[in-house]
Amino acid sequence: MEWIKTLHVSCVVLSFCGFFLRGVWMLSGSTLLQRRWVKIVPHVVDATLLTSALVMLYLFQWSVLEHQWLQVKIVALLVYIGLGMLALKPARSMRVRSGAWLAGLAVFLFIVSVALTKSVYGFMG
Ligand code: HEM
Repeated sequence: MEWIKTLHVSCVVLSFCGFFLRGVWMLSGSTLLQRRWVKIVPHVVDATLLTSALVMLYLFQWSVLEHQWLQVKIVALLVYIGLGMLALKPARSMRVRSGAWLAGLAVFLFIVSVALTKSVYGFMG
């Protein structure tokens, strides 16, 4: 069952790199952000990331209710999605967007630390 974890972690790396790059393009005013594939690929990566998580829960027979660190991951993932939307939608000011981007990167790294430590506090514990 290592393959599914490998898939999950590969999507984690791709998702982080993609979010980082799009933030850099946002800050530098690059038109690359408007490219069709730049809008589509992150959704494919994130859908695969989430699907692989659900498949793991099924294969391992893990219940989200039983493991608090999984609950923290889900909530933090929702926060990350919200911050990502704030950061990458053009309607907001540059200050809000860059702040949301930095906060999103920090939340992402927090999720990784929760996954590695299986503790609800992650690197803050
Ligand atoms: C941005 C979102 C996410 C990130 C950055 C992330 C990150 C990671 C990382 C780095 C690992 C590997 C841990 C290790 O090698 O021990 C992992 C494993 C795992 N993740 Fe995620 N994950 C995310 C979302 C989720 C979600 C939403 C769930 C399900 C609620 C989930 C469930 C799992 C499970 C079950 C494992 C396997 C743990 C193990 O067998 O050791 N992940 N995740």
